[in-house]
Amino acid sequence: MLVQNLRRVSASREIFSIDSFSLMPGETVALVGPNGAGKTTLLMTLALLHLPSSGSIRFDGTLAAPDNLLALRRRMAVVFQESLLLDMSVAANLTTALRIRKVGRKEAAARAGKWLNVFGVADLAPRQARSLSGGEAQRVSLARAFAMEPDILFLDEPFASLDYPTRNTLLNDLGRVLKQMNMTTLFVTHDYSEIPFLAEKTAVMYEGRIVKYGSNREIFGEDFFERQSWIPWA
Ligand SMILES: Nc1ncnc2c1ncn2[C@@H]1O[C@H](COP(=O)(O)OP(=O)(O)O)[C@@H](O)[C@H]1O
Ligand SMILES: [Mg+2]
Repeated sequence: MLVQNLRRVSASREIFSIDSFSLMPGETVALVGPNGAGKTTLLMTLALLHLPSSGSIRFDGTLAAPDNLLALRRRMAVVFQESLLLDMSVAANLTTALRIRKVGRKEAAARAGKWLNVFGVADLAPRQARSLSGGEAQRVSLARAFAMEPDILFLDEPFASLDYPTRNTLLNDLGRVLKQMNMTTLFVTHDYSEIPFLAEKTAVMYEGRIVKYGSNREIFGEDFFERQSWIPWA
């Protein structure tokens, strides 16, 4: 994915302005920055769920435009802080999303089973989504996202509302899956301790701009974990 001169203006205020940003196949990038920096708005725009005010977004050289927006959007999956599961069974949440994308019934059932299993929640398949704990619901959301077999995965603070032990086991599991799948991922977080589990590079966003972008080592330095109080946009 390659982005150029991407801007979003809302009520005459600039929400973000990105001269140039790329996310190459297999790259895992954390997007960090303070509240209100524009991370969610940028993620939604890159995922083609919001339109930019100006600028271009390309996937494999194809320029995103009104006539191919839906097709391109189907190559991406997004997981938010709230799991946004539909009020139906866990299995149906996955198969319904796949059926909407024209996946056949048998294939949809097989993929749903596979990904629920990968995220350790195969036994929850018959349960109603609304009866799940926060951690279970996020595992199901991740399984649903991977079942789409997206080219790019967008994660917007998916663990922010989970308790610490739940979050940690999920970070480990998701990190392993991202590596195994070589999944191209943009991961928004305000918690730096999550970054090394999921991302190899970090983009720092401040007041609507990407002010730093590089490998975790370049951005944070060698002894990042000993310096948790460091503020990278300062
Ligand atoms: N629909 C909207 N209309 C106007 N302003 C918005 C809208 N959505 C977000 N904003 C503003 O854009 C800025 C960036 O918000 P957001 O992308 O949610 O930041 P972050 O995710 O980094 O906390 C904030 O100042 C927010 O108030
Ligand atoms: Mg946000």
